Formats: sequence, structure tokens, C-alpha cells
Amino acid sequence: MTDQLDLPHRPRRNRRNPVIRGFAQESWLTSQHFIYPLFIHDGTGDIPIASMPGCARLDMDGLMREAQGALEDGVGAIVLFPATPESLKTLGAEEAYNPQGLVQRALRRLKVEFPELMTITDVALDPYSSAGHDGLVAPDGRILNDETVAILCKQALSQAEAGADIIAPSDMMDGRVGAIRSALDAHGFTDVSILSYTAKYASAFYGPFRDALDSAPKSGDKKTYQMDPANSREALRELELDELEGADMVMVKPAGPYLDVIAQVRQATQLPVAAYQVSGEYAMLKAASAKGWLDERSVALESLLAIRRAGADAILTYYARQAARWLKQG
Ligand code: PBG
Repeated sequence: MTDQLDLPHRPRRNRRNPVIRGFAQESWLTSQHFIYPLFIHDGTGDIPIASMPGCARLDMDGLMREAQGALEDGVGAIVLFPATPESLKTLGAEEAYNPQGLVQRALRRLKVEFPELMTITDVALDPYSSAGHDGLVAPDGRILNDETVAILCKQALSQAEAGADIIAPSDMMDGRVGAIRSALDAHGFTDVSILSYTAKYASAFYGPFRDALDSAPKSGDKKTYQMDPANSREALRELELDELEGADMVMVKPAGPYLDVIAQVRQATQLPVAAYQVSGEYAMLKAASAKGWLDERSVALESLLAIRRAGADAILTYYARQAARWLKQG
């Protein structure tokens, strides 16, 4: 008498040894997939961000240090997010396209010091708007679409002039990808790419980011332009429009709670797909790890691998450098 089951199919055979598991592995994480978001400010010294341990508002030297570190760790692209003093914020967000603005100056210096580093810039008015919104706000509180798109084009142009390699509109105004493409082309920036925040949700997971930049809306919320977390068909509609308007790459944001959307977008497009592991996702992993409730390295790498498995090609993550180093250690 044997207790052996009559089992012809045993999936565990493909998991029984590391070499065999290697044959069966379907997705990978390498530093080539990472994009590193960085916060900058116009003062001296780096100011730590309480809700994002390990991240800081960097001064210009701090930015250069992180840029060099990223390259050394094998991370080839960064995204810049500026903290703007209240004194420079206006209803019209004019600072967004100041050729001597913080982002523009940072880009010029980065291009001199690290020409091989790909620089990505955020296009949206919230860091510069006294109302804290991504678009212009009418007296009655409405967010004005077409008027905003005109400003976004100026912002994108000033970033391209300063050396941005990839322009990433995160504002969710209608028609901005097409308008920015035309503006860039008309000014000879035919090689500057557009990474569109195609499906950007009105998510509470952006909380720590808004702390980092003091950029929370002064009134109202972002639900009239960012997407409803209940929806995924709508993401495919945004995707279709962004493709027609000339996006080079598309993005889903946040990433972890929206893996189904990443998977659907991956299926529906031939373009590279990026996903943004946002500040709140990072803060959760950091907080639980600090308490000893989760093993940081394992959960961080697992969360990033899951985003890749869902279909993302590139991942924006505050873990970029750290994860690249973990992967190097093997
Ligand atoms: C600004 C912008 C936001 C993020 C990226 N670009 C915040 C927002 O839309 O309110 C969030 C990123 C993060 O939480 O890490 N338009």
C-alpha cells in the first residue's frame, strides 16, 4: 500500500530546483526598467521628507549627487519635481515656464554634467499654482481645460529648451498630448519624447507627494480631471486618444493598486507602458518595514516585479536606486 497519488500533472516539478525555476521564470526586474523621481528645491541643503523616508527635497548639489549615484547604480533616467516657494505661486502659474525657473536651471546643469542621463519633466501646473491644481481655476472653481493646455505647451517648450529628453504631462487635461506634440515639433524639438500620464487616477496614494511639495489643492479635489478609481474601460479610451495624439509612451498611475489597468493597457497598445509606484505605495512599504512587520528588500522587489508581470516596461519608483543595488547584490 502506497500513499502516492495518481497525479500525472505536477506543476511543482517546474519549481523543484533553481535552474529549472529559471527556465520557468516569466518576468524580470533589472535596473534598466527603473525611472527615479527626485524632488528639488531652490535653497541650500537637503530637506528630508517625513512621510517618505530616504527621500528629500534636494538642493542643486544634492540633485547632481543623486543623478551621479543613479547612473552608477545603473538607473538611466530621472524625473524632476520642484518645490516652489509660496511667493512664486500664482493663479496663472507663470513660474511653470520661467526660463530661469528651478527645473529649467536644473536641466541645463544636468545636461552639462551628465549628458547621458535621460531627463524627464512633469508637465502640470500644481507646483506653481496658488490654487494647488494641475490646471487654471476659474472664479467659480471649475478647472479650465483649453486655457490650461495653452500654458502646458509653454511649460513643455521651456523644459525642452532647457534640455528635457522626455516630457511627461501629468495634468490630465483633454487634448494636451496632441497640443504639446505640435508645439514641440513647431519649435524643432522633434526628438523630444512624450510620456503621457494616460490613466492617472484621482488617488489618495499621492498624499506624501503633496506633503513633499506642499502642492495639495487649496480647495476642492482633482476628480474633475483625474480618473475615477472605479474605472478601467475609461483608461482604454484615454489610451486610444493619447495614441492618436502622438504619445510615445503611456503610463498608468498609481501602479500596485491598479495592476489590472496596467495589464489591460499592455494588451491594448504596442507602445511602451510605464507605471508609477507612487509616494503612498512607497510610504506603506517603508512604514511597515520600519516597524519590522515586513521585510523591506523582499516586499519592495516583489512589488516591482508584480508591476513588471502585469505588463509595465518601465517603472517610476522612489526605490529605483535602492532596488538597483539590491539586484546587483543578487
Ligand atoms: C502632479 C503630480 C502628482 C504626482 C506626480 N505628478 C500629484 C498629484 O497629481 O496630485 C504624484 C506622484 C506620487 O504620489 O508619487 N501633477
